[in-house]
Amino acid sequence: MGCCHADFAMVEGSDRGFTLGMPTFTFGAGVLAEAGPNAAELGLKRVALFTDRGLSGGEHVAKVKASLAASKVDAVVYDEVAIEPTDASLQAAVRFARESGADGYVSVGGGSVIDTCKAANLYATHPAEFMTYVNAPIGAGQRAPGPLKPHIACPTTSGTGSEVTGIAIFTLGSLNAKTGIIGRRLIPTIALVDPDVTRTLPANVVASTGFDCMSHALEATTARAFPRRLNPVQGLHRPVSQGANPFSDALATQALDAVGKYLVRAVRDATDVEARTEMMYAATLAGISFNASGCHLPHGLSYAVSGLTREWHIAGYPQGKTLVPHGMAVVLNNPSVWRHTAPVSPARHLHCATSLGADARGATPDDAGEVLAGRVIELMRAVDMPNGLSALGFGEADVDALAVGAEPQYRVIKNAPVDVGRDEITALFRAALRYW
Ligand SMILES: [Fe+2]
Repeated sequence: MGCCHADFAMVEGSDRGFTLGMPTFTFGAGVLAEAGPNAAELGLKRVALFTDRGLSGGEHVAKVKASLAASKVDAVVYDEVAIEPTDASLQAAVRFARESGADGYVSVGGGSVIDTCKAANLYATHPAEFMTYVNAPIGAGQRAPGPLKPHIACPTTSGTGSEVTGIAIFTLGSLNAKTGIIGRRLIPTIALVDPDVTRTLPANVVASTGFDCMSHALEATTARAFPRRLNPVQGLHRPVSQGANPFSDALATQALDAVGKYLVRAVRDATDVEARTEMMYAATLAGISFNASGCHLPHGLSYAVSGLTREWHIAGYPQGKTLVPHGMAVVLNNPSVWRHTAPVSPARHLHCATSLGADARGATPDDAGEVLAGRVIELMRAVDMPNGLSALGFGEADVDALAVGAEPQYRVIKNAPVDVGRDEITALFRAALRYW
């Protein structure tokens, strides 16, 4: 079972089981054209099709619409999804969903689109005051009281894994903090994962989403193992972020292997169909893996980075406002985190490093953090990632503010294999300022 199964030995009072909310997905070139037959098979007559303005006039949405029409499924399009959704943008989507008369949902887009569609489906199917389903302690953290309507998710980037997770992330305006809605019932009914969509992705998007995928797999593997979870509730109350387990280990290992072999090729050459296809598959595997385990420090810290960056623009993403791509904000914290967490589970960190292609011959447990951090830095440099948080304009004077900005993420940070407080988080940001 898994890479280091001794980590799953039971301890006094621990949860003795783990739960998998398994998604159904179809993977392969051209499978977007299967949207119509899948919708018809689900008995759908009229779907709300969620996308964004950048995609709504493009070939992927056209392909899905044509497939739905051929199967005699009506589609009403909502293309006002916000990139980086907010509570306000989600509630606008919910209003559309309620008024659409749809009996099911199709999403075509990146994580923002798919997440928005999950939330719209949840609130339109089981109406409630907005904070009812938002993660505790920020919201009431209630579970959906019943199944949602069918949702066919069609990702157009290779990284977020949102098509196979029960997670919807957004910024809560009143706190200016990222939070989410999480539950196994949010997992889309079917994901159509079509690597053809990656042919036209800009290099920067492939790089950032690829590092998001990598970090999902690394965090799923290094998260506090499920028998050691701080909150050992069992049965139906077992959280989605239940900790590392043998199932999430296996898929994460396969995803890391692909990232190590194909990420750099996929970024550098848009015509490298093999590399871009493998990255698309890795993203879905890593999504299933972290959905069954949980993310921790790199994701928890990333939201403070993206929220506090003063000025940052990057080709391939919407211009006009400062935007740090999610995967970039995540990877910039990676080496710093691995150097800190490796002493708790050096075998796991070394396993991750070798899966990513590091040469760990002769490495001792004491070297684990450096070997994994070193391999991640190697990949970052190969695809021109910024050299740490200082490249985004942060300095020593900002690390305290970053640590305060990470506080709303303690739900995620608690999954880390080590206990961290304000001092440790400040030190992690300081160590992430510059890597080479
Ligand atoms: Fe992510």
